[in-house]
Amino acid sequence: MAITWFPGHMNKAKREIGRALKQVDLVIEVLDARAPYASSNPILRRLKGDKACIKVLNKSDLADPSVTKEWISHFKARDNLRAISLDKEKTSQIKSLLVEGRKMLPAERNKDRPVVAMIVGVPNVGKSTLINILAGRSIAKTGNIPAVTQHQQRISIAKKMVLLDTPGILWPRISPPACGYRLAFTGAIKDNQFDFEELSLFAAEFLSSHYPQALTNRYKLKDIPDEPSALLHAIAAKRGCLGKGGIPDLNRVSEILIREFRQGKLGRITLEHPSDIPVKDVDET
Ligand code: GTP
Repeated sequence: MAITWFPGHMNKAKREIGRALKQVDLVIEVLDARAPYASSNPILRRLKGDKACIKVLNKSDLADPSVTKEWISHFKARDNLRAISLDKEKTSQIKSLLVEGRKMLPAERNKDRPVVAMIVGVPNVGKSTLINILAGRSIAKTGNIPAVTQHQQRISIAKKMVLLDTPGILWPRISPPACGYRLAFTGAIKDNQFDFEELSLFAAEFLSSHYPQALTNRYKLKDIPDEPSALLHAIAAKRGCLGKGGIPDLNRVSEILIREFRQGKLGRITLEHPSDIPVKDVDET
């Protein structure tokens, strides 16, 4: 899927993150638990070096719990890295993140200096929500559209702890193409930057092969048609999205499928397994 959305503020954010990393002790990388590889930033992977890092598999209330477990075991095998699945209701676990983070810092670091923890992640993954819970007050603006946060800000949340909030960034070339679909499906890419019908064909194919029951339950289908386009047609018929002569309104049905997936109405679904990580990235991800 070709995505051309890389607004100026993301370019600036990328430069700022590179600069800020120099004074950062701990990186908290917020991933979407439904697509932990697609939502992990390849630029950050390169820039971060061996800094202590906590990967938060966020929005885990929407992800398939058994696959989330696989991802956590995958990340466990990495040095200087912790992984935890969270969602915004798990406030006490969110608050313990920083305690865990402190334990990961080198024993010889200057304890008089506040710990600087940088929060990074793709747009709309839940960074601001997490920061507000960590800070115990509403500091960062939240919203269910990508790129609400546009500037980096420093937030002192305790005597010796500073959070660095960063805008959600994407990267200029999203590959392999399936990663672009997964990011768009989960809501990390602005809706006007991709073709709804193309995305819903991807979604129909993926859901048919991995979560057929979610489709039959939600759309009251007897069985799943072989072709993704026939599946969209069947859903359109069930939802009254047929035009003249029974022709499906593909735009409307695509919008329904995408919205209902994002709202969790199809159930808890994960779009990728650790085995989907391309070989070239396995050691780094
Ligand atoms: P940008 O400013 O675009 O970078 O977004 P962000 O990463 O700061 O995301 P934000 O905190 O604004 O959250 C985006 C949307 O996701 C909001 O509607 C939140 O309520 C929702 N959200 C955040 N965390 C969770 C979660 O754990 N589960 C679910 N289901 N929704 C969440």
